[in-house]
Amino acid sequence: MIVILIKKFMGNTARLELDGKVYEFPVVTGSENEKAIDITKLRDTTGYITFDDGYANTGSCVSNITFIDGEKGVLRYRGIPIEELAEKSTFVETAYLLIYGHLPTKKELQNFSNLLTQNQFLHEDMKYHFEGFSAGAHPMAILSAMINASSCFYPGLMLGRPFPERFDIHAARLISQVRTIAAFSYRKSRGLPIIYPKKTLKYTANFLHMMFSDVYEDYELKPEVVHALDLIFLLHADHEQNCSTSTVRMVASSQANLFACAAAGVCALWGPLHGGANQAVIKMLEEIREAGDDGSKFISEVKSKTSGKRLMGFGHRIYKNYDPRAKIIKKVCDDLLKTLNRVDPLLDIAKKLEETALKDSYFIERRLYPNVDFYSGIIMRAVGIPTEMFTVIFAIGRTPGWIANFKEIMDNPKCRIYRPRQIYNGKTVNHYMPIEERGE
Ligand code: ACO
Repeated sequence: MIVILIKKFMGNTARLELDGKVYEFPVVTGSENEKAIDITKLRDTTGYITFDDGYANTGSCVSNITFIDGEKGVLRYRGIPIEELAEKSTFVETAYLLIYGHLPTKKELQNFSNLLTQNQFLHEDMKYHFEGFSAGAHPMAILSAMINASSCFYPGLMLGRPFPERFDIHAARLISQVRTIAAFSYRKSRGLPIIYPKKTLKYTANFLHMMFSDVYEDYELKPEVVHALDLIFLLHADHEQNCSTSTVRMVASSQANLFACAAAGVCALWGPLHGGANQAVIKMLEEIREAGDDGSKFISEVKSKTSGKRLMGFGHRIYKNYDPRAKIIKKVCDDLLKTLNRVDPLLDIAKKLEETALKDSYFIERRLYPNVDFYSGIIMRAVGIPTEMFTVIFAIGRTPGWIANFKEIMDNPKCRIYRPRQIYNGKTVNHYMPIEERGE
């Protein structure tokens, strides 16, 4: 019989009773007083492993990058509250903060900016790769394939741990090129000619230039639009051990190169339960509008569970409170639509859904609140970004976080390859049967 009697903290150890024997395991405490039981020796000492489907209680690493308190709705990059960064910083400065661990001095920021500009052009031969995709291909598929393909042009990337000078260049190249590839993917998916980046434009303005310069007549880079998109990038820049970042770390633990890790991150981000949720939110809002519903019928369907529908943009594995990014985005969304003098009926439906859900016992009991994706899509629509590009925007924003996590793995010579175990529940030993004996 197995009795898990005590898992309480006894000073710096936790005691676990298994089959009548007591084992002690060290307790690890983080800088924000988060506690974990270090079970790295569990299997060696007891023969057991832990079972944690979906890793909800598994600390897969010790990290210094991002802190989240999901109960209180707190998010900090390198200790700095997201609200302060959203108000005072820019995406590029925040990217530096995440990757290098401190806010840059003027000189550091200038050097970083120069590196981004110097590395923003793709190798000319990459254009042939773009030609291989059909018009209509999903830009996330193009993005992941092209990030991987672009690694072929930088042989230095493949030389094991790329430190330290090479890392700076590769990191800047990835941040810069992910944006160039993203814009090219959009142009390709619409069958439009590619627009090259301009050296005189800053990061986010340059992205909008590459996307739209010739799409709208007299396209004007409005500062409010540039600011709103820059803020979306910043708010997505990192979020500790989410699905895509864990994927990046997983791949990095085998010491694959930075671009291969980022391409894997893009694939993990793509799904509707993760980065694809922003696209799913707009689809949901459009369906509600087309059905002539104000959201009430949809909420009933979600609650009934038989429809298989979820309120997209709601709920989070970590936040059991309002996602602090959603608060910031909601305000920016309101401000931007006002500035642009734009009315979006989807915003009204979203607000109604939020209001209804936050008062409803189904959502209250499960502690489901709006997450970052609930309002971000409405901002992106206002900026002119097509729905299929929403997750790509998320990927551009998340790139510095992936790089920071990659760096943390590479900086740690003791990092072991990530290799979880499983509980096997399939057939026990079973023998090969010749095909003639298998029946019809
Ligand atoms: N709508 C309706 N019910 C929900 C929702 C939702 N959005 N999210 C969770 N629930 C319900 C589940 O049905 C479950 O109910 P039950 O206890 O009756 O079975 C309960 O809440 C717990 O849900 P889980 O799926 O176990 O929660 P988990 O932590 O695994 O999932 C997730 C988190 C994937 C974000 C989930 O809330 C979800 O699917 N949300 C919608 C998609 C979304 O917005 N994703 C973006 C996340 S943020 C990001 O990646 C940037």
